[in-house]
Amino acid sequence: MTLKNTEIKKPEGKLGVLIPGLGAVSTTFIAGVLLVRRGLNVPIGSLTQMGKIKVGKGGETQYVKINDFVPLADLKDMEFGGWDIFEDNAYEAATNAGVLKQTDLDPIKDELSAIKPWKAVFNKNFVKKLDGTWVKKAPTNWDLAQMIMEDIKNFKKEKNLSRMVMIWCASTEIYQETIPGVHDTLENFEKALKADNTSIAPSMIYAYAAISSGIPFANGAPNHCLDAPALRELIEKMRVPVGGKDFKTGQTLMKTIIAPGLKARMIGVDGWYSTNILGNRDGEVLDDPESFKTKEVSKLSVLDQVFQPKLYPELYKGYYHKVCINYYPPRGDNKEGWDNIDIFGWLGYPMQIKVDFLCRDSILAAPIVLDLVLFYDLAQRASMYGIQEWLSFYWKSPIMEKYEEPIHDLFVQLMKLKNTLRWLMDVPLVTYLGTESYD
Ligand SMILES: NC(=O)c1ccc[n+]([C@@H]2O[C@H](COP(=O)([O-])OP(=O)(O)OC[C@H]3O[C@@H](n4cnc5c(N)ncnc54)[C@H](O)[C@@H]3O)[C@@H](O)[C@H]2O)c1
Repeated sequence: MTLKNTEIKKPEGKLGVLIPGLGAVSTTFIAGVLLVRRGLNVPIGSLTQMGKIKVGKGGETQYVKINDFVPLADLKDMEFGGWDIFEDNAYEAATNAGVLKQTDLDPIKDELSAIKPWKAVFNKNFVKKLDGTWVKKAPTNWDLAQMIMEDIKNFKKEKNLSRMVMIWCASTEIYQETIPGVHDTLENFEKALKADNTSIAPSMIYAYAAISSGIPFANGAPNHCLDAPALRELIEKMRVPVGGKDFKTGQTLMKTIIAPGLKARMIGVDGWYSTNILGNRDGEVLDDPESFKTKEVSKLSVLDQVFQPKLYPELYKGYYHKVCINYYPPRGDNKEGWDNIDIFGWLGYPMQIKVDFLCRDSILAAPIVLDLVLFYDLAQRASMYGIQEWLSFYWKSPIMEKYEEPIHDLFVQLMKLKNTLRWLMDVPLVTYLGTESYD
């Protein structure tokens, strides 16, 4: 089936953004949108707002802004709501996060202060380093899911929304795999919710509530929730677009920029050692080995897919890959990531690459949140449901349909994303087979 422009519903009315976790990333995202829509700043880093797409060939070639090419929601039509385990409003949370300067927060203080979190669904067993005070209480997880759905309904009514997207910006939970009898089928999962089974993570409860309400769900942390077959069954049933996981920022972004280049030139790699220091709340949560394990699995998966050691054993067999994250409070959100890459070239002669990336985690993540919200809303209006693989560009560990391997190469991901937009709008894809210039 070919989807045509005319079949995409227009972005009429207001779009609600539902955010579990009013922390550094989400408040930086909200503040940025408020500043941009007031004309006080520029949405740097956002493909939907700054990016252009090549359409047509030869003398007919045009470079069209992505948000003019596809019908995306306007920033002025966005409303924000969220949950957190602390009662701070978005202004207080942004101030505590310390990402943005007070001079950036002051002009939007009233709007940010009006965003007050709803009480969260929280379970300390899944985030060992946090203790929340602003937490829902109910007899079972099933009741908690109903309470989230109630929050969603009330928000929709109060803000007169036409559509919503939920994006997880809360803390990373401990590592989990599918547990038979609990996460394997929707029936078992719903029974387990009602029986208050202890293996159901809060992220699964939010995801369940969103998807059951027909709302797209995007998972910004490496949590297991969308990998659970039970939730996949629900996604199929409700036909909503979903995706994840773990925003691709910082060191992994760099990896998926550098590694494809080395591979393209058939340069060998003996080892890739990555270490980070960061001092925000995310860093503190990841200081717990069980939450770190979830992150580690997500970060480690990237290089194998790019290097394909089985196909290129002389270049990549047995290369050593290590990722460390160290909590170091003085740095706050301003992470420093070091990479040492041991490479070898012609006749096996060794060389080294050192990367020292002094990055700002939430500054890199905020435009990703914006693009994902807009693209998941587009996908919903275009009747695209299930895992949105064309949005792998944004994820550190893209979830795929059952048998597909994720693609990590940033440039292949970008081509897939742009060609999906062309396909949606029924214009020819760019394949680089002719004399096409860079898009
Ligand atoms: N910043 C980045 O570059 C980046 C990149 C990839 C992934 N992430 C992930 O995004 C998430 C947010 O990162 P951050 O830097 O904003 O962290 P943060 O600690 O500043 O914010 C997370 C917020 O979630 C809240 N929270 C925890 N459990 C909750 C629950 N069950 N329900 C509602 N709220 C809950 C916390 O109180 C906190 O305010 C983390 O999982 C992080 O690993 C961040």
